[in-house]
Amino acid sequence: MANSWATLGVDLHLEPAGSSGLRRGLTDALRDAVRTGRLAPGTRLPSSRSLAADLGIARNTVAEAYADLVAEGWLTARQGSGTQVAMGVPPTSFGQRGTGGVPPAGTAPRRREPGRPAYSLVPGSPDLASFPRTEWLKAARRALATAPFDALGYGDPRGRPELRTALAGYLARARGVRADPDSILITAGFSHALRILGALLGARGVRTVAVESYGLDVHWGLLRSAGLATPALPYDELGTDTGALSDEGAVLVTPAHQFPMGMPLHPDRRTAVVEWARRTGGLVLEDDYDGEFRYDRQPVGALQGLDPGRVVYLGTASKSLAPGLRLGWMVLPPSLAQEAAEAKGRVDTCGVLDQLTLAEFLTSGAYDRHVRSARLRYRRRRDALAAAVADRAPEVRVTGIAAGLHAVLRLPPGTEQSVIQAATWQGLALHGLAFHRHEQALAEPLDALVVGYGTPPDSAWAGALEALCRVLP
Ligand SMILES: Cc1ncc(COP(=O)(O)O)c(C=O)c1O
Repeated sequence: MANSWATLGVDLHLEPAGSSGLRRGLTDALRDAVRTGRLAPGTRLPSSRSLAADLGIARNTVAEAYADLVAEGWLTARQGSGTQVAMGVPPTSFGQRGTGGVPPAGTAPRRREPGRPAYSLVPGSPDLASFPRTEWLKAARRALATAPFDALGYGDPRGRPELRTALAGYLARARGVRADPDSILITAGFSHALRILGALLGARGVRTVAVESYGLDVHWGLLRSAGLATPALPYDELGTDTGALSDEGAVLVTPAHQFPMGMPLHPDRRTAVVEWARRTGGLVLEDDYDGEFRYDRQPVGALQGLDPGRVVYLGTASKSLAPGLRLGWMVLPPSLAQEAAEAKGRVDTCGVLDQLTLAEFLTSGAYDRHVRSARLRYRRRRDALAAAVADRAPEVRVTGIAAGLHAVLRLPPGTEQSVIQAATWQGLALHGLAFHRHEQALAEPLDALVVGYGTPPDSAWAGALEALCRVLP
């Protein structure tokens, strides 16, 4: 079918029929119109009723196509102002959606809303527009339909047994974690788990938790708010030097993928940290925030597998699914499981329906399928980022890209702040490495950007990459 609509002053030729069905055809046609600039940012689209009448198709088909494009970030829908083309969408002639095409030099600058960055490459978030809504809904429906009525009570402070059992199986298979469902505690993300551990360690008389020279200030802050000191371990070309541990009561590390530098903990230092824990009775807190996303070879297995009696394994759905779910998990040494459950308490729990949904998502195989397709998407973006930087800014070295959703771009000395400032003027939000550096870090400061290439929706990826290339020295 070929048709056009002239409602609300918009005259647009659409060919929504294709072998894959009307809804898909209309979605593709509209996406294409936005991507190529035929529908400019801010354009108000006709109501689903009038577009359906114009095209001679069912209203639901139009409503569903609009909903798909809102979820992907191409359109926005607001009560009272209808459906519009999103402001952050650049008209672009390069790169296929989701393929991470490399932008050519010299593309015209894009318009942006004043005051608010049009693009973000800040690390810390997956592509929220690709959250598997349909699969999640299916899992939620099945979970609710089959949940026993008593699942809706206050329940076990450790979390739903269905989820703890599903996680024990998944973590053993995918991450090499040795887990018994009884030693797993469900939390509202990693941060919640860290708060619980801070309280538990403080109550046990621990005063100091060593952390890495590079990391997240907000996590160190959670430990400090429990009264713990958080000195930094040295960092060198092999990564975090765990050989420098002495009488601290615990250490917080990111062994599979150092955040943000991006390398795995060196094998000698993996052994060193476990030996330190055995020798001193210390505890290793293993932050496995994005262990699923490794691109060039098998993921590095969890450190916890080396000594489940001395390592607390911490995982989260924030990178693999979405931070808004606020779902995380701890696998505790059996001797600490009861104490941790008490530190968490009965009140401070996570919603049962989301826990049951995640359990269903894991056991049905939907989680594996989602991670596999997300891995492909992020891998393409990573390759496009590396290719674009090599082409447009050969002075800049891209590092830490074997895994995860971010890369570290090493800049010429003394340029980090000016690049970030230039990015702000271009409407691009960026983080420099200085933002992630511990105030007591001993190593020479490096000028670098921490680029969260997983963050933008597909619709904004090419524009974000182009904006980045423009500001690189
Ligand atoms: C290093 C690191 N650890 C853990 C997390 C996850 O934290 P949460 O589960 O509280 O969202 C993140 C998310 O940005 C992270 O970057």
